[in-house]
Amino acid sequence: VPFFRGLPPDDFDQVVDLLRPLTFLADDVVVREGEEGDSLFLIGRGVVRVQREGSDEPLATLLAGDFFGEMALLSGKPRNATVRAVTHCSLYELRRKDLAILHELRPDIRRALELAYLQRSSPAPASA
Ligand code: CMP
Repeated sequence: VPFFRGLPPDDFDQVVDLLRPLTFLADDVVVREGEEGDSLFLIGRGVVRVQREGSDEPLATLLAGDFFGEMALLSGKPRNATVRAVTHCSLYELRRKDLAILHELRPDIRRALELAYLQRSSPAPASA
């Protein structure tokens, strides 16, 4: 995951300890629109699709190295879309209580999350 590139080995070990590895099968729902959420997910392996309930058109397809779930985590609002595994996926979950520790190690991570939040709230046409 690009976030963690360049992290000194000791810090990396500390970050890895904060993450909970999870496995999902194709078609499993990881987060559901409207539910409360207090964690975000990093994609280690696999592909997920982000979709609004009742819409056939996906908002995004995310791959290894991407993350999702930052919107509910940062805003405290319910999940604004459903994220479903397209393939078998290895994900790493980071919960709100551990985010502060991560921010101490990597202040730039907060900016990366906030930037994604802004871009995903009002995506420019034809942008990724
Ligand atoms: P959250 O609202 O916590 O749960 C659903 C997630 O889908 C959301 O956080 C984002 O991480 C992701 N998401 C929502 N809209 C988009 C979008 N337009 N592009 C990419 N990801 C999105």
